[in-house]
Amino acid sequence: MESDLRKSLAGLPLGGICYLESTGSTNDAALAWAAKGAPDFSLVVADQQTSGRGRMGRKWFTSPGAALALSVILRPSEQERENIGLFSGLGALALVDALKNYGISAQIKWPNDVLVARKKTAGILVETAWMGADVESLVLGMGVNVFPAAIPPEAELNFPATWIQSEVRNPVERFDLLRSLMVALIKWRPRLGMGYFLREWQEALAFRGEIVQVWLGETETVIGVLDGLEADGSLRLVVNGAQRLIRYGEIHLRPL
Ligand code: ATP
Ligand code: BTN
Repeated sequence: MESDLRKSLAGLPLGGICYLESTGSTNDAALAWAAKGAPDFSLVVADQQTSGRGRMGRKWFTSPGAALALSVILRPSEQERENIGLFSGLGALALVDALKNYGISAQIKWPNDVLVARKKTAGILVETAWMGADVESLVLGMGVNVFPAAIPPEAELNFPATWIQSEVRNPVERFDLLRSLMVALIKWRPRLGMGYFLREWQEALAFRGEIVQVWLGETETVIGVLDGLEADGSLRLVVNGAQRLIRYGEIHLRPL
């Protein structure tokens, strides 16, 4: 398996590659490697995660042989440090781009999920390690459901889920998809925060022009038309004719 992975990624400008058959969370493995000096754009991939996580300690399921679970260690430049809030968009946009190679048109459920046919097929979790006031390293964690076994039991889902292979006839090779994803990340990273980046991200937003409900924390909710994105990656809703900006945070978004 590891040699297939390395073959698939051959020639790409990655800092290093670490393959784990099974691990708690690739984000934890990546944060530990980053603390020991992993070079920029090092990649951790696991076949299985036993305690994969989403935001706010929610669980992310990765069963063996069925998904991609990966974390990319990035050492942000000074300019990238100003745009930490855009990295989740970077991961989402790269996956949307990679899926175009498979003829799949995917959407981004702001802020951190990728949908296919309005169902969740991937989740993104960005975590940072700080050195004083600066982000010293950033871990871009992505979980992608490729085969049906990747889908957790219904009771564990808070949003409908799907997998990539359900959309294409030819067998999907996980590591080919991983290569396409890395190529797309390498392509989009230098464009982080540029007009073209924001336009493409906005174009890919799920539920654009639709009425959505956004939960801000436990109790407060906003209902409005999903309008687009601001330059800092905030979501713009139109509520009773007025613009309302939603910043990345502990939010849930649903179509109504
Ligand atoms: P929401 O989906 O409500 O917007 P969220 O995006 O805030 O929630 P996350 O933290 O992003 O939630 O994702 C974690 C949730 O994703 C879990 O609580 C679970 O419901 C769901 N989940 C876990 N593993 C998978 C998987 N492999 N595929 C699809 N969904 C999953
Ligand atoms: C979410 O939807 O909240 C984000 C899920 C992120 C899952 C990926 S899988 C690889 C990496 N390791 C983790 O523990 N989480 C991320």
